[in-house]
Amino acid sequence: MKLWKGRFSKAATSSADEFNASIEFDQRLYREDITGSIAHARMLGKQGIITPDESLLIVETLQDILKDIEEGKVEFTIESEDIHMNIESILTERIGDVGKKLHTARSRNDQVAVDIRLYLKKETAAVRSVLTELEDALEKLAKEHTDTVMPGYTHLQRAQPVTLAYHLLAYYQMFSRDMERFDDCLQRIDRLPLGSGALAGTTYDTDRDFLAKELGFAQVLPNGMDAVADRDFAIEFINCCAITMMHLSRFCEELILWSSAEFDFVEIDDSFSTGSSIMPQKKNPDMAELIRGKTGRVYGDLMSLLTICKGLPMAYNKDLQEDKIPVFDAADTLKASVSIFTEMILTMKVKTGNMEKAAKYGYMNATDAADYLVSKGLPFRDCHEIIGRMVLYCINKGIALDELTMEEFKSFSDKFDDDIYDKIAVRSCIKAKRSKGSTSFESVEAQLADIDEKKNERS
Ligand code: ARG
Repeated sequence: MKLWKGRFSKAATSSADEFNASIEFDQRLYREDITGSIAHARMLGKQGIITPDESLLIVETLQDILKDIEEGKVEFTIESEDIHMNIESILTERIGDVGKKLHTARSRNDQVAVDIRLYLKKETAAVRSVLTELEDALEKLAKEHTDTVMPGYTHLQRAQPVTLAYHLLAYYQMFSRDMERFDDCLQRIDRLPLGSGALAGTTYDTDRDFLAKELGFAQVLPNGMDAVADRDFAIEFINCCAITMMHLSRFCEELILWSSAEFDFVEIDDSFSTGSSIMPQKKNPDMAELIRGKTGRVYGDLMSLLTICKGLPMAYNKDLQEDKIPVFDAADTLKASVSIFTEMILTMKVKTGNMEKAAKYGYMNATDAADYLVSKGLPFRDCHEIIGRMVLYCINKGIALDELTMEEFKSFSDKFDDDIYDKIAVRSCIKAKRSKGSTSFESVEAQLADIDEKKNERS
């Protein structure tokens, strides 16, 4: 039976009912909905809007309903439209007229807004926990690979040697900013809309501060129209998901490249790879590809909610019912992607020998050779030019810079001495970096120490 049937002389067609209903996807808010209703019933009782006995009966019955839903004993119906009216109908079926009093001083508009906010508070904590595991995994791997040398790239061309630890810590920093963004977004999620009514407030002597306390919200939203009409906090949440997915997808792209025969830097564990139905030799990095692909979906979720909200007049409009689909999808996709990714990197094999080999070829010590000449008093531009000619000479001969004889070195500049060989060895190039935040072994140790210190501060 429709809870709003009074004003209607004709029932909706069943296709319209189906089109209008959101129970299929909003049923996952049952816990938040009941939590919000319990707080509301307590507030109504405390304020004398319903009697203490009525309040208690409603609260206890809602608790029973929650238990029954969790045990799979409750069936929701399309006729009751959404999770809010389904639960209210069940309540009324169980306790009759007292159940009908629950919706006093409340609208579904402030009810659904409080449900999504409660849901997103929970999801932010869940995202935090998977991101923490990812950070721990990156830190662990970085500690294992402080001496693993590899090529650093720009334009996907070998540029300067770095350590794998340095590369991993670059991602650590990205994910720790993602975490900051979620924490920041949480401050705006954590505000109470309940008690705003449909849009204009209610005529009852309610206590919204009590509701905020009961439900654990840090603040009460100061304007009821804003409270029921806006979903900026959800857009922000999806935005945080989209940025995190973007970071993940870059790392996935690298793992896909690194596991190709062309790079051969890592081997993703069999348990995170799949085979081909036709080519027996294939082992594909599907998980990494899927995370890269799902990033597109989450961007779509962001665009979807932004577009749903665009141009909506104040206050609530039914368009907003569509908010849940992208919100749920973004949160689910992000959590699953981060978890799979973490397990995948913890189980992959790093081929340190191949990385080191790649770091030794490709003239990545050319900048260091130029810096050597600068230290002998030549202007950097001239050094750049000399080393450029030397690289060309070596390419034609098919040798590395440090394979030139002293005579050959001298033929390019008489400033070269025997110590050049040590200066342009791959580990020397890494060691010689002195700027704060560089790839030098010392700097990477300092970065790791800083991470540990921040972690200790937090715990
Ligand atoms: N199912 C609706 C939603 O998700 C609940 C709010 C409905 N409010 C209304 N005035 N029709 O947005």
